[in-house]
Amino acid sequence: MPRDTKVPADELQRAANELRDDWHTGRAVDFEEAVAFHESLPKSKWFAPVLESADAPLLQPRAGVPCLEAQIDLLRYLQEEGGADLLPTTIDSYTRDNQYEKAEEGLAASRNSDSDELNGFPAVNHGVEDCRRLVRALDAPIEVRHGTPDARLLAMVTLAGGFQSFEGGPISYNIPYTKRHDLATTIEHWQFVDRLCGAYTERGVTINREPFGPLTGTLVPPCIAIAVMLIEGQLAATQGVRSLTLGYGQVGNLVQDVAALRALRKLGEEYLPDPVTVTTVFHEWMGGFPPDEARANGVISLGGATAAVAKPDKVITKSAQEFQGVPTKEANAAGLRTTRQLIDMMIEQDIDLGGIDDEQRLIERATRALVDAIERAGDGDVAQGVVAAFDSGEMDVPFAPSDAAAGAVLPARDDDGRVRIFNFADLALPDDIKEVHKAKLGERAQTEGRDQSFRMVADDVDAISDGKLIGRPAGHRGGASDAD
Ligand code: 5AD
Repeated sequence: MPRDTKVPADELQRAANELRDDWHTGRAVDFEEAVAFHESLPKSKWFAPVLESADAPLLQPRAGVPCLEAQIDLLRYLQEEGGADLLPTTIDSYTRDNQYEKAEEGLAASRNSDSDELNGFPAVNHGVEDCRRLVRALDAPIEVRHGTPDARLLAMVTLAGGFQSFEGGPISYNIPYTKRHDLATTIEHWQFVDRLCGAYTERGVTINREPFGPLTGTLVPPCIAIAVMLIEGQLAATQGVRSLTLGYGQVGNLVQDVAALRALRKLGEEYLPDPVTVTTVFHEWMGGFPPDEARANGVISLGGATAAVAKPDKVITKSAQEFQGVPTKEANAAGLRTTRQLIDMMIEQDIDLGGIDDEQRLIERATRALVDAIERAGDGDVAQGVVAAFDSGEMDVPFAPSDAAAGAVLPARDDDGRVRIFNFADLALPDDIKEVHKAKLGERAQTEGRDQSFRMVADDVDAISDGKLIGRPAGHRGGASDAD
């Protein structure tokens, strides 16, 4: 069972030596020489300083294709035609499963044809030198974006390859992504990743880390997402990470999203130790998208508007082709420009929305209750506590596929479209907070003239892709104006 203590240098070294043999490119990793490579890069490619010194939200898409030249062309296009401030490299699914042999076959097949036979860039197979070619060819900082529960070798290769930001974390890349990885082992694997980032940081090459805030992307109550961000942030900070970007996925209610982003920043600064620089990232809607591109642009625009009010440090954009999967480069760039238009038109407006402070207080109180429960469950050790709390259900994530989580908590929207909790199961929230959620959902049930039931939850999951925020019964528009 892992403890939240710093991995000793000799253990880091021993694990790195073993991992080198998992795929042949691991043998080319040389830490000292990698530090020198990072130092040779112009400051415009240093991820943490660029992000941390920005005075408006920076925009970043997702993008990954199998072959190196195509990845360079794609990222150049997103920078030039989309105006991306920060670049991604999205890793393919085989690499996420540590199946490097299969990734190699997909890469070879992609090189021999016009089609992409992998859904991302297999960075481990490309190896250190090809990652450096990518980093050299582009003018903006680049992040590794993935979804890998055991990302140790991926981190070794990509950080040596010049990437300075790495997405994911032991909870956020386990609970929503996989069924079979146990949480304790995943925490150990991420302690290695974070320790490696810490080792670069101690040598003056700050590696930015970004826990994945949206989790399952489906109606995640803000308090749950923020609690996960704080715990992953603490675990990373223990290993020497000094640049943390905490994430949050749009739920679609403007007031709740702004309140949640403010709570995320405030609690991040409070809970994480002083030497850590905390930034925030807002993900445009991660749930089901409308198949109609015009409507999808509406969803993206609401994300841009939310970002303009909440002013996170970074926004991960979506494209109008989200419904069909990986977007074309044109659609991806258009999603960036749509978001930019909204932010640029709105960011200087002094917009005063009612109810943000109350919602923020509610989110903060609930988040504190969850983090307290995790700390208690581990007798003050968050690594132990998070395993115990997920085991008992005191901590949970809705719709989680992982065996490590109960997945018993169910969310539903209230009459205003804010995400509340319909079934608490064993979630460690105090009774007075539960009462607020119950009362809010009761108002909605009354408006709709139906009982609170799982039907409401299911209707809400599909609502945005069906063109609405709240999954009302057929023929019901909802809201007070119905009486007119
Ligand atoms: N390129 C662009 N977007 C990608 N996504 C996944 N893989 C890629 C890729 N290779 C996006 C999906 C979805 C999100 C979870 O990641 O389209 O928006």
